[in-house]
Amino acid sequence: MTMRFDILTLFPEICAAYLRESILKRAQASGLLRVHLHNIRDYAADKHKMTDDLPYGGGGGMVMKPEPVFAAVEAVMREWRLEIGDSISNLQSPIILLTPQGRTFTQTVARELAHHERIALICGRYEGFDERIREHLATDEISIGDYVLTGGELAALVVVDAVTRLLPGALGDPTGAEDDSFASGLLEYPHYTRPPNFRGWTVPEVLLSGDHARIARWRRRESLRRTFLRRPDLLLKLELAEDERRFLTDVADELAGRPRPRVDSSGQGGQ
Ligand code: ADE
Repeated sequence: MTMRFDILTLFPEICAAYLRESILKRAQASGLLRVHLHNIRDYAADKHKMTDDLPYGGGGGMVMKPEPVFAAVEAVMREWRLEIGDSISNLQSPIILLTPQGRTFTQTVARELAHHERIALICGRYEGFDERIREHLATDEISIGDYVLTGGELAALVVVDAVTRLLPGALGDPTGAEDDSFASGLLEYPHYTRPPNFRGWTVPEVLLSGDHARIARWRRRESLRRTFLRRPDLLLKLELAEDERRFLTDVADELAGRPRPRVDSSGQGGQ
């Protein structure tokens, strides 16, 4: 399957630069990904090519006019229709507004979007969009976090990037995005590469052992430890095995400087 994104923006070149490099470049070359950039200004009907105007009711800032944005999205939808006909799936393709007022983008949202074959991303500039774009054109609104950017382009690129790397074959590695932070609901375990000793800082012995079961166990525990220490909110959403919960109790005890209350049956203590 090829995934097609259409990015509608006043600054297509910002997006083009990012799409020309690395994994997104490769995904396009291999036919996994297509990204069409559309300049909203090309759809402005008046002779000054105006895309923004003063807000009704006064106040500062400018507002994105509805006509060019509607015209641009309708042109994209016509292109989609030429590709696939008037099928149901066309009607279900998301038309997403990038705005700080949208639902927060997460790995779960990225996975959800990766199921679509076509997605339109509308990037705003200025103070905001005319509300009629929100009400009658967009099917979804996404924010990439609780901060305000000068435009939606970076947010659109974040969405394209996070979704593309989930497409089977987009990452060189056959296990793909399976081990990513958040994929399992946990942060990723620490990584090491050569040399085994760098300025006296050594790689954990278990990683050099060649014992794959031990390595997997160590990685799982380090993922748990790291998530507990940095993002305990993520752990609340997970069901952990009994021994994993005990491991985290030990981590918490160690952190608090409490002696370990239990000695396990091997007589070697926790871990
Ligand atoms: N446009 C401006 N700020 C944004 C944000 N945080 N997320 C998405 N689009 C935006």
